[in-house]
Amino acid sequence: MVRRRQIYEGKAKILYEGPEPGTIIQYFKDDATAFNAQKKGTINGKGVLNNRISEHVFTLLGNIGVPTHFIRRLNMREQLVRQVEIVPIEVVVRNVAAGSLSKRLGIDEGAQLPRTLLEYYYKDDALGDPLITEEHIACFGWASQEEMHDIADMAIRVNDFMSGLFAAIGIRLVDFKLEFGRLWDGDYSRVILADEISPDGCRLWDMETGEKLDKDRFRRDLGGEVEAYQEVARRLGLMPEESEEPTVLDLDKHRKKKGG
Ligand code: TMP
Repeated sequence: MVRRRQIYEGKAKILYEGPEPGTIIQYFKDDATAFNAQKKGTINGKGVLNNRISEHVFTLLGNIGVPTHFIRRLNMREQLVRQVEIVPIEVVVRNVAAGSLSKRLGIDEGAQLPRTLLEYYYKDDALGDPLITEEHIACFGWASQEEMHDIADMAIRVNDFMSGLFAAIGIRLVDFKLEFGRLWDGDYSRVILADEISPDGCRLWDMETGEKLDKDRFRRDLGGEVEAYQEVARRLGLMPEESEEPTVLDLDKHRKKKGG
């Protein structure tokens, strides 16, 4: 087996050097962390589900013209992506009050916000990813004005698209986190959507029951994490449906087993 060069290991993913220059392999782990890695655990099968869910969402976003780093899925746990220089800002988009917003400002969880709220956090684990303003971003040069304009524009487009995508399958998109990266072409760069979009970085509530179908199940010790992620994948049409009728594939398996 050829050993690949590991570039970086994060909390939920490992990045390896890709097969061609300018490409990276994203490997999705089952590891889960919360509260800046103070809480650690594993969610068996999460990596496989997130790889598939993220592939699906990034492909659809690409189809509507949002530039993303996604190239193609390689296998159950890996996808090939474009190598980018990550902008050190986590962009959180909120439609409904929850989590840290509710805690910080005393707003009831579940309250619909009067308008979509964009928040920025400085990506620095040692500092616990502090909330920042565009003034901080400009002051310290973490991104240019033009990049921030493009980032905000893309975040809103992603939110509009994903809100509809999830509403159609009975899921309320409460909030989510995005990351962006710079794609260099000589002396010029443009920002594109990077990282992943999965129940790890989104709050997804069942529209009828309010049940949480995301990483809050892990953060808040609710249990049933895998089932929740599977349910999201199933509603997105990414899981093989149970069916009464044997499919052609099932029949094939049956024949092979019988040696026929
Ligand atoms: P928050 O309410 O804890 O600030 O989280 C807002 C959204 O961002 C939620 O959907 C989870 C996601 N998120 C991440 O993906 N990574 C993080 O480190 C944090 C704090 C939140």
